[in-house]
Formats: sequence, structure tokens, C-alpha cells
Amino acid sequence: MEKYIIKGGTPLMGEVEIGGAKNSALALLAATIMTDDSVVIDNLPDVRDINVLIDAIEGIGATVKRNDRHSVCISGRTIRSFCADNEYIKKIRASYYLLGALLGKFKKAEVTLPGGCNIGSRPIDQHIKGFEALGATVVIEHGMIKVKADRLVGSHIFFDAVSVGATINVMLAAALAEGNTVIENAAKEPHIVDVANLLNKMGANIRGAGTDIIRIKGVERLHGTEYSVIPDQIEAGTFMFAAAITNGDILVKNVIPKHLEILSAKLIEVGCKIEEYDEAIRVIATDVKKSTKVKTLPYPGFPTDMQPQMTVILSMAQGTSTVIETIFENRFMYVDELTKMGAKITVEGNVAVIEGVDKLTGASLNAHDLRAGAALVLAGLAAEGFTTVEDIHFIQRGYEAFEEKLSKLGGKIEKVDSEKEEQKFKLRVS
Ligand code: UD1
Repeated sequence: MEKYIIKGGTPLMGEVEIGGAKNSALALLAATIMTDDSVVIDNLPDVRDINVLIDAIEGIGATVKRNDRHSVCISGRTIRSFCADNEYIKKIRASYYLLGALLGKFKKAEVTLPGGCNIGSRPIDQHIKGFEALGATVVIEHGMIKVKADRLVGSHIFFDAVSVGATINVMLAAALAEGNTVIENAAKEPHIVDVANLLNKMGANIRGAGTDIIRIKGVERLHGTEYSVIPDQIEAGTFMFAAAITNGDILVKNVIPKHLEILSAKLIEVGCKIEEYDEAIRVIATDVKKSTKVKTLPYPGFPTDMQPQMTVILSMAQGTSTVIETIFENRFMYVDELTKMGAKITVEGNVAVIEGVDKLTGASLNAHDLRAGAALVLAGLAAEGFTTVEDIHFIQRGYEAFEEKLSKLGGKIEKVDSEKEEQKFKLRVS
């Protein structure tokens, strides 16, 4: 089983290039199948979730041509099945975007119930509410969600929860519905805007993405185009926080600083220095960090996907910090792993209280989910001695060449597959 072996204690220094946003790309890929023409998507991250979705898209009959590692050309003309069901697609959350895309184009879709990280119950009632408002019937049986409609007709939808997935899914279906749709209480994440931009480039008529009211005038058909995925806000944030955690100095390149404002603000609060450029952010850490309070919220609030990385910073800050998780109820599972490293954290319900310690010490850890896995790696890079992180397949779902990027910044980290490789690494870095 592959795992990471890490020798902590080296401040990360230098430059890192951020790839395309995984969560955006997943929705963009689904959108490509809504036209018979070819759509080229560039700046795709080469990560497991993306590759699983591309395989699923090929699996329903779409023509997929890989231009290179980060670019794909997809044509939905050859689709012959409206059913996406295989053992891999079950593992990714974003399989549900095929529902909205297929429903919009073919008025029919069957997709296996979504998986994804185990970070709490992840209902899809708002997706269903949206599809039903457009005139579809939705049935869940044998682990599949089945949606179909004779006609899709625009509607006024008020979401009861701010959901990224439901907002995108309804936007996809409504783009090809008859008449006008208004989505209220929509999510405002950068990837909502990215998906709307692609759909509009394909001929859709969507206004207001990025605000909490999105207005969609349905069109009869969409056409081909070429589109580049926005930079990954969470990958960028992870490297920004890596600088803080290891007392380093990192220039994070190919980012949209506006998308990272809340993260920069929190880094300043704990005592880091931030330099902002047009497409880059430099984080210069100080040895001593201050405690603070963090509450996860929908965009533009503090992202839940950066919560574990924030907790790692605060575990080594002076004084007592609190982290409140309001999006997913089960997102503190990694705290037990951090306490093995000497962190002092107590969790009650959705609140973590963190007493900063002077240092963390290396330990054998397990990644429980994608972002928490990345956070444990960063903790290992700061800790005294050796840390191993197992179950790194979670991390590979969302970070391209994670260990390579960290190594280039001076981190002592390697992916190993055997005891022998682990010993070799230890000898080399000791
Ligand atoms: C997406 C991201 C994930 C991120 C999350 C919040 C992808 C593939 N995943 O997940 O990385 O952590 O946004 O930024 O883009 N909810 C309902 N009913 C629904 C849908 C959601 O009650 O039908 C609730 C959820 O339980 C949660 C909240 O709404 O409390 C936000 O979930 P949502 O924004 O839908 O997250 P995902 O789209 O699954």
C-alpha cells in the first residue's frame, strides 16, 4: 500500500504552480456532454476524481479524446446510454452532475447514488427539489437516482440550503429547459461562475452566477467551444497554509487572489505577511503564530475544505483558538490523528477548541478524507521527526503531484510502497 513518509522540520520555500480547480472541472466535464459538438476543456487537473468522471463519460458513449495530460476534447454526439453506474463512479461525489447534464439534454438520466469523502451525511434533497420544480420525476431505487421528464419547464426555485452541487445541477438542467428559471439562495462559489461561463460560451443564457439569484433563459441547443478551468482555490489555499505551518515563504502562482481573500485574511490574523500580485500570492510566515476564531461558511466565507489545514496552523499557535464547522457535521475525524502528534484539541459537536502547543511530533497517521489527508501531510512537514500518512488515495483524488510540489519547495516527503523504500528514505534524509 502506498503511503507518504515525511521528515518534518524544513520550512517550505520557493514557488509553486497551482492547477485547474477539481470541483469546477468536474461540473464543466459534465456540461460538455450537453451538446452534440465537441467541447475542449483545458487546464484540467490530472487527479483521480477527474479521471474517474472522464471514464464514466466515455462509459455512456461520449467520444473522449485526450489532447494531453491537462486537456480533453469531448463530444456528446455518440452518447447511447443515460445510465452511469460502475464501481468507480460510486466513489466520487460529483457523479451527480451527470444527472443535471443528461436530464437537460436527453430528459432522462440514471446515476448511481453519489459517494465522495466521508465527512458527514450528504443529502441530495435540494438537487431533487430543483429537478422536480423543472417538471422531472425522481425515483431512488437499488442505489440509483433515476430522473426523467417529458418536458423540462423553467421554474422559480428557492433552495433551503446553500448547496454548490444543487445550484450547479439545476443550472445544467435549466439551461436546456423551456422558458425561464430563477434559482434563489444559490451558492456563490467561484466554480458556479465557471460553470455558468462555460454554458454561456456554449450558447446558454445564464445571468447572476456568483450572486444568490441566478436567472436562466432556457435555449433549444448548445454548441461546441473551448474553455479553460479556473485555478484551484483549495489547492492554492493548501500551499498558502503550508507556508504558515512550516514557517516558510511560498509564492503561490497561477491563482485568482480574489478567490483567496478570506484565506489571506486568516493568515494575516495569525501573524503571516501576505503579498498579493495579479496572479500570485506570497505567504511569509513568522515563527510565532497567534490564535484566532474560524467558522466555516459558504463562499465568500471560510471554506470547509480548508478547515483541517487551518486547524493544523492553530494547533501550533499561541493561546486558545476555536474552529466551528457549519457545513458538514463529521469533519473533525482527523483530530484524533493530530492528537497523536501532540496537538491539544477537544471537539464538542461542531466546535473544536485548540490549545496551541510549541511543536508537533512525528507519528503514524491515516488520511480519512481528501482535505484532512492533505492537512496531516502539512502537519508532518512541520513536526519533529518522521511521520507516515497512509490511505493517500484520498489525497490523490484532489491534489496533482502533491509530494512532488512539496519536495520542490524543500519538503522532505516521498511516496513509498514498501518497508525497504521507507528505510532508504530515512537513511537519505537523516
Ligand atoms: C461541494 C464540494 C466540496 C465542498 C462543498 C462545500 C464538489 C465536488 N464538492 O460539495 O468539496 O466541501 O461543496 O463547499 O464540488 N445540502 C443539503 N441538501 C442538498 C445538498 C446539500 O442539505 O441537496 C447541504 C449539505 O449537507 C451541506 C451543505 O448543504 O451541509 C453544503 O453542501 P454542498 O454545497 O451541496 O456540497 P457539495 O456540492 O456536495
